[in-house]
Amino acid sequence: MIRTKICDMLEIEYPIIQAAMGPFDTKELAAAVATAGGFGMVSHPAPAPEYGILAIIADEETRIKAFNDVKNRMMGAVREVGRKAKGSFGVNFRVAPEQPDVPMLLDALIEEREKDPNLQKKLKMVLCSAGDPTQPHLKKIQEAGMLRFQTVPSVYHAKKAEKSGVDGLIVTGYEAGGHVAYEPYHTFVVVPEVVQQVNVPVVGGGGVCDGKGLVAMLAFGAQGIYMGTRFIVTKECEFNDKVKQAIIDSSKKYPKEATTIVTQGVYGPLRHLKNKYSLRLYELTQMLKNEEITMQDVWAFESEGTYRAKGPEGNIEDGAIWAGQVSLRIHKLMTCKEVIDSIMQEAEAILKDLAKKYT
Ligand SMILES: Cc1cc2nc3c(=O)[nH]c(=O)nc-3n(C[C@H](O)[C@H](O)[C@H](O)COP(=O)(O)O)c2cc1C
Repeated sequence: MIRTKICDMLEIEYPIIQAAMGPFDTKELAAAVATAGGFGMVSHPAPAPEYGILAIIADEETRIKAFNDVKNRMMGAVREVGRKAKGSFGVNFRVAPEQPDVPMLLDALIEEREKDPNLQKKLKMVLCSAGDPTQPHLKKIQEAGMLRFQTVPSVYHAKKAEKSGVDGLIVTGYEAGGHVAYEPYHTFVVVPEVVQQVNVPVVGGGGVCDGKGLVAMLAFGAQGIYMGTRFIVTKECEFNDKVKQAIIDSSKKYPKEATTIVTQGVYGPLRHLKNKYSLRLYELTQMLKNEEITMQDVWAFESEGTYRAKGPEGNIEDGAIWAGQVSLRIHKLMTCKEVIDSIMQEAEAILKDLAKKYT
């Protein structure tokens, strides 16, 4: 039976954490993962499509409306997951300068948790990402009785987060889906090095989808795995079914080339599945580098396509499909319980087999 420090800290059965996948809803997914013995994660929404990503640079009145909408949707998601999940879960905040809504959201979250004993039992951790872990208001997370984790892509960021007093780190490499680091360190390199250089528990991700990945992370000294793309391709994930199928089909569609591509995104480099939209965004990224267009042009294009694929429209050619390189290894739609159980069974079998063969 594989039980690690992270299982005790987060009060979960298995060392498997569902990755944050904002700005999209992951309520159903978080509840299903938490019920299947893993750790579910409520994602940080973006302003609703009518405001778009560009709400962060809109006039004050629009910004306030957009942020109140984000707060209501996020707190609604927290209450819903609290009701549905059998196990524990967390909440992600992207603490980037482009995300000035975080202090308000954090206060709302703490208030929500304080008035609900069920949430006090289940809502264990806030995962901060995409920004500075030393921002003073983030201390409120631990003062309110929750654990504070930070996602980091490098040893430098890991040490900075550790110094700021985090309880644990999620370390993800460049093969991950969604936003990735400017410095392309891969999971195979960055996870073991961070483990060696910090004293807080580390969970590794980016490219993990099965029991082999869990064993690899344990060998690197990590306490568990963090998975986004694998959990998209589950029956419970609320992303459009066409997106799930596009991930399964991606390796057939581009058999001779990479299935994913990194473009400029609002928060930096962003890994997508290849399609018409991401190839155009890639072109715009190159034009931005050559100073032929501005960052706002890129954001406008990105904003338009963000919800087109994952939302009800399901337009998988003209919309963004953020997904990791591990798409290459995902061939089947499963339930969250099937994913988690198969990972645990495979990892345990590998560990036994390795011990037999090599000791
Ligand atoms: C659709 C999608 C949305 C994401 N949104 C966020 C986010 O809001 N906050 C965050 O910290 N990371 C986000 N990420 C990154 C994931 O949390 C995680 O690092 C990544 O999925 C791990 O790599 P994998 O996809 O290979 O499992 C997102 C990833 C995907 C695929």
